[in-house]
Amino acid sequence: MPVFDRGFLFGDSVYETVGTNRGRLVFLDDHLDRLARSAERIYLRLPPRDEIVRAVRDTLAAAENPESRVRIMVTRGDGTVDLDPAAAGQPRLVIIVQPLGGPSPEMYEKGAEVEIVSVTRNSPRAIDPAVKSGNYLNNVMAMGEARRRRPSAHEAILCAANGSVAEGATSNVFAVVDGQIRTPALEVGILDGVTRGKVLELAHTNGIMRHEFSFMSPDEFRRADEVFLTSSVRRVLPVTRIDGQVLGDGKPGVVSRRLMVLYRQLVEAQT
Ligand SMILES: Cc1ncc(COP(=O)(O)O)c(C=O)c1O
Repeated sequence: MPVFDRGFLFGDSVYETVGTNRGRLVFLDDHLDRLARSAERIYLRLPPRDEIVRAVRDTLAAAENPESRVRIMVTRGDGTVDLDPAAAGQPRLVIIVQPLGGPSPEMYEKGAEVEIVSVTRNSPRAIDPAVKSGNYLNNVMAMGEARRRRPSAHEAILCAANGSVAEGATSNVFAVVDGQIRTPALEVGILDGVTRGKVLELAHTNGIMRHEFSFMSPDEFRRADEVFLTSSVRRVLPVTRIDGQVLGDGKPGVVSRRLMVLYRQLVEAQT
């Protein structure tokens, strides 16, 4: 890739990470829809969708992994060292296929540790968190803070500028209180996670109460009965330690475990 690629120079790109199940891409259409939304919001022109799908399928087949994570990246292309987006050439499509490398079975069983960090999620009026852009430096700083504080931390949890719990560095967050699942509303300033959306739908169809909040303080979050993370690579991952404090009885909770199973069944049915 040329050093003048704007993805490299400025993080001027959009991307998606898609997981596989039994070698098949999980919710590819939802990811491509979000890629299109991200691109539109930063005025980046995408290659035709069928071209992206073909490149994804060819690269996945060539990799021959048992299960993969597929990173679909589109940069604004090459230019000079000039911020003006109009200076860009053709968009560049890059597909990276790696072994899935999700959390270990032990982590699903015991639950993960997370740290609530001081780095805040970007303001929606800066790089909108709804855009999955290649500019992840803010989240890189969040992850760095979490790991410096606690090397065993699996994920950093970021708050919005108003202090509300927002999302993980590469995941959405859910709390469970009195049997109800609670997650930040999109307006808090988060990524519209594909897994988050499916979990909310599953809760609806299975009679689990759900609430999208506009504010939850870190203290309320730490006092939740259960917490779990969602993302395409993690699926539904229970959390059992926040900032070194044990959550509840220290084991993945009933609602988290139920959603883990329901989500697995949904993925099995779709692939
Ligand atoms: C900031 C952020 N939030 C949430 C997610 C989870 O989104 P999804 O479920 O679509 O993978 C990701 C995924 O990488 C992310 O980077």
